[in-house]
Amino acid sequence: MAAELEVRNLTKRFGGLVAVNDVTASISRGEIVGLIGPNGAGKTTFVNLLTGTLKCSGGEIVYRDRRITELEPHQRCRLGLARTFQVPQPFIGLTVEENVMASALFGSGGARRSMPQARARAREVLEWVGLGAAAANPARTLTTAGLKRLELARCLASDPSLVFLDEPLSGLNQAEVKESLSLIRSIRDRGMTIIFIEHIMQAVMAISDRVIVLANGTKLAEGTPQEIVRNADVQKAYLGDVGGAVERYARLRKGREAAGGR
Ligand SMILES: Nc1ncnc2c1ncn2[C@@H]1O[C@H](COP(=O)(O)OP(=O)(O)O)[C@@H](O)[C@H]1O
Ligand SMILES: [Mg+2]
Repeated sequence: MAAELEVRNLTKRFGGLVAVNDVTASISRGEIVGLIGPNGAGKTTFVNLLTGTLKCSGGEIVYRDRRITELEPHQRCRLGLARTFQVPQPFIGLTVEENVMASALFGSGGARRSMPQARARAREVLEWVGLGAAAANPARTLTTAGLKRLELARCLASDPSLVFLDEPLSGLNQAEVKESLSLIRSIRDRGMTIIFIEHIMQAVMAISDRVIVLANGTKLAEGTPQEIVRNADVQKAYLGDVGGAVERYARLRKGREAAGGR
């Protein structure tokens, strides 16, 4: 299958900390790729490097045979890369529709859109994500789930081919998670490629064609969901985390008891 994105030896240093360490990966067109890893693994930094929010310390990013490593975020957006943020970033003073229009005007199809066309595109996308009825409301009146949908609508209205979602399900209840998963599937059904960061493992496993695991900035494993759940290194990275927390808690309790506390 044709590669949508090639990442070669990507590295990001923050002073002495190597947040992303020599990561190489290839994403095929039309794939849904889940990006997982313990807290602080470098997932968000990785997405920031790919979308241009951060510049890399080393390595190379190739999107559809074009080197984009040095391009600014808006240039990458014009080419067809779009993202959502873990914490939604709407224009809080604008209406829901105006927020989406801004993307329709400045995204990859933007140069060709008039205001009425941008409005039409915004309405279309808002219907798609289930926010049609809220179009005229101020963005600040939306609930958490609504803000997540608006974030997705803003991303989609820029007509991307490659979509990055940073924890699109965080803060949602079970019913909302289910709805969001079918929304994410519908994005792929329209031909887009998706890379998404998620903590809810069941969701990642249910929806991903492939999973990439980051730990301490390096690529620990990659494979189908079935391969990943069976991978001993991955189990250790996660269970190691839990094991460490249990041990710290036990030590803390012991210390308190010794000090005569509860
Ligand atoms: N702008 C920054 N400056 C310094 N350190 C950072 C910055 N952004 C992230 N980090 C550090 O890089 C590591 C990876 O962070 P992040 O990519 O946010 O992890 P994840 O999204 O997997 O939880 C963490 O140790 C974090 O503290
Ligand atoms: Mg993160």
